[in-house]
Amino acid sequence: MPAMSGFVDFDPERDIPSLRNRVIFITGGTAGLGRASVEALAKHEPAHIYFTGRNAQSGESLIADVKKSNPAVGMTFVKMDMASLTSVKKACDQFLHARLDILMCNAGIMDEPLAVSEDGFEIHFAVNHLAHAMITKRLLPIMLKTAEIPDSDVRLISLTSVGWQMHPKNGIAFDTLRSKQGNLTMLGFSLRYGQSKLSNILYAAEIARRYPSIKAVSVHPGVVATDLVNNLPTMRKALVYGTNWLMGISVMDENKGRLSQLWVAAGASRNELVNGAYYMPVGVLSNDKLDKTAKSEELARELWLYTEDVLSKVT
Ligand SMILES: NC(=O)c1ccc[n+]([C@@H]2O[C@H](COP(=O)([O-])OP(=O)(O)OC[C@H]3O[C@@H](n4cnc5c(N)ncnc54)[C@H](OP(=O)(O)O)[C@@H]3O)[C@@H](O)[C@H]2O)c1
Repeated sequence: MPAMSGFVDFDPERDIPSLRNRVIFITGGTAGLGRASVEALAKHEPAHIYFTGRNAQSGESLIADVKKSNPAVGMTFVKMDMASLTSVKKACDQFLHARLDILMCNAGIMDEPLAVSEDGFEIHFAVNHLAHAMITKRLLPIMLKTAEIPDSDVRLISLTSVGWQMHPKNGIAFDTLRSKQGNLTMLGFSLRYGQSKLSNILYAAEIARRYPSIKAVSVHPGVVATDLVNNLPTMRKALVYGTNWLMGISVMDENKGRLSQLWVAAGASRNELVNGAYYMPVGVLSNDKLDKTAKSEELARELWLYTEDVLSKVT
């Protein structure tokens, strides 16, 4: 399973080691890549998997599916609306374990109509970044304690997208984040999605710098035919497929699409994973693909401080 510069030959069933005693938390587990990740990780018998979403029916069906083949794995569906920081904060109280080994920040939205979250923030920034920052803040003390256990291997995975390249000129338009940011579009592309996915990269890198006992990385899964992409208007879908094709990235099914996040979460050994790095499919270390903005420690720090201020005011 060699890594680093080229593609990794990775088969989750074959290459993920036993996850016995490990506890996992995955956001957006009710569909798409999150669901595929829950199913794959459950096969390696962790002690417990928490997963989030709004769709309780999907949550129940996933638990039933996993229990059929892996009855010993504990499962908790954590219902939360990530467009409400109060909902997210409260839902985190359902986490009851004394350890957390893998936090996969996977849930996401793309190309949503102009809107603000319940807290008044641009909707992509709110769901894709702020909600994950709240979950991370709530669970970080447990993750840091887990990292003190001998032989532990605590990881935080942030799902980003090559769409991060569509970020606004200065990266994050802090001055208008508390609005719909209707001005942030260009040739039909949503700069708002790009801004939120840039935030996912910057935040993971900042966590790695602040808490080096946790391996925190960001990962682009590739273009995967999930609802996120399938539900796009035809022209927009064509643009997503076309631009990725030009970059040599072809559309994958969920079975292939899940590989990147599973590799950084549990397939790669702790030593081969570069803390704070950005990975592309599958297991390709891709910091050289980041622009000055996505590499900026100053911007990451500004985002951290901005986010801390927002989260500290949530009741
Ligand atoms: N698919 C791709 O081609 C692609 C490419 C690049 C990056 N990504 C990234 O990969 C991640 C997963 O994407 P996917 O394709 O698997 O998406 P998906 O199939 O649309 O699934 C999205 C998940 O996020 C949850 N979610 C969305 N809005 C939510 C909200 N307001 N509150 C709570 N949960 C919410 C959904 O749960 P409920 O419906 O139950 O709420 C669902 O479980 C995203 O971060 C995305 O940006 C995907």
